[in-house]
Amino acid sequence: MAGDARKTAEALAYLTGFGNEHSSEAVPGALPEGRNSPQRAPLGLYAEQLSGTAFTEPRAHNRRSWLYRIRPSAAHPAFTRTANGAIRTAPFTETVPDPNRLRWSPLPEPLPGTDFLAGLWTLGGNGDATQRSGMAVHLYHANSSMERVFSDADGELLIVPERGGLLLHTEFGRLHVEPAQVALIPRGVRFRVELLDDSARGYVCENYGAPFRLPDLGPIGANGLANARDFRAPVAAYEEVEGPVEVVNKYCGNLWTATYDHSPLDVVAWHGNYVPYAYDLRRFNVIGTISYDHPDPSIFTVLTSPSDTPGLAGADFVVFAPRWLVGEDTFRPPYFHRNVMSEYMGLIEGAYDAKAEGFVPGGGSLHNMMSAHGPDRETFDRASTAELRPQRIDDGLAFMFETRWPIALTPDAARADHLQQGYDDVWRGLEPHFRTP
Ligand SMILES: [Fe+2]
Repeated sequence: MAGDARKTAEALAYLTGFGNEHSSEAVPGALPEGRNSPQRAPLGLYAEQLSGTAFTEPRAHNRRSWLYRIRPSAAHPAFTRTANGAIRTAPFTETVPDPNRLRWSPLPEPLPGTDFLAGLWTLGGNGDATQRSGMAVHLYHANSSMERVFSDADGELLIVPERGGLLLHTEFGRLHVEPAQVALIPRGVRFRVELLDDSARGYVCENYGAPFRLPDLGPIGANGLANARDFRAPVAAYEEVEGPVEVVNKYCGNLWTATYDHSPLDVVAWHGNYVPYAYDLRRFNVIGTISYDHPDPSIFTVLTSPSDTPGLAGADFVVFAPRWLVGEDTFRPPYFHRNVMSEYMGLIEGAYDAKAEGFVPGGGSLHNMMSAHGPDRETFDRASTAELRPQRIDDGLAFMFETRWPIALTPDAARADHLQQGYDDVWRGLEPHFRTP
């Protein structure tokens, strides 16, 4: 069954860009011609707009889609509160932001029957979901497919699988992602996660702020970094299901549940630019130095959520993809630095070139605002004396969620058994080598 699901999802995928109008219909003729909301939508469907930005935001930033569905979303019973599990939401006020460098091992094994939603565990975040600013870092570890349907009114969800394939059944159709690919579910879009392997593990950036977009390229020009044509949107697919379906809604930090008498994944056709999408990180066009030094890691930005200050992101998603290092007379690993931005790093596979050990796939590190970090002693010693031949870095895939605000931890993350003790020790032994001439 898993194999069939993969085949189906891949067959349906197609390429899309950002900001443009896209459309898809599962049944020919389901999309109305020439108007969004005709007196009677084709095939007896209901027309419904889903707005991801305010009606009046500038055209270049405006995101909305029209959905043509079997029942309107409004046809649902009342939601009631349900347990939040290990999910927490900004503002994060239960701990104070920590200036220390912190690192976690992977999440422990989940209990049997843990689906994606039950497997979500919040590390921390910033901002305020009700003010639509900031972000949260979650990890997930699941071993069961979702029977229920989920949507997040608080933010969009950037899902970064580290282990196990996922088939995301969304209102817009299906998206298939494997580790080294990412998927984005826009705020409010309903979806269900089917596991394609025995278990699934990964990371989620919940972005309360402006929707992720491609960064401007400036002097790089019209091409490079993540190319718009490599983002896949789903093809319309619908479920015509009668009978009880649990729908969980994350709303201002709490989970609410309702039992529908039908599946809300009943969209037969859609058009617009507010759609889920997936991206293969191996498609990232890595740009770096061909002379000396290396550019700041912002050169690895895949997606950015701008704030009200140009260049100052509420959240950036950055990938450290395979690349060549050729800088002459250059310390080639990431340099020592202190950063006004806060950096959560995760590892999808392999190793990372600034750390010898301890930073493992499924784990993560947090270098909060202005915390000093960089290569560990072993890496420093090696890179300072290495013969600088062209070198291909291809044994790992790391990423970063970077944000303008400090990340405050959840109590769970601050007290977790898998929070590593002694992370500071990786910078021990960096002896002074200073000599006067
Ligand atoms: Fe850093």
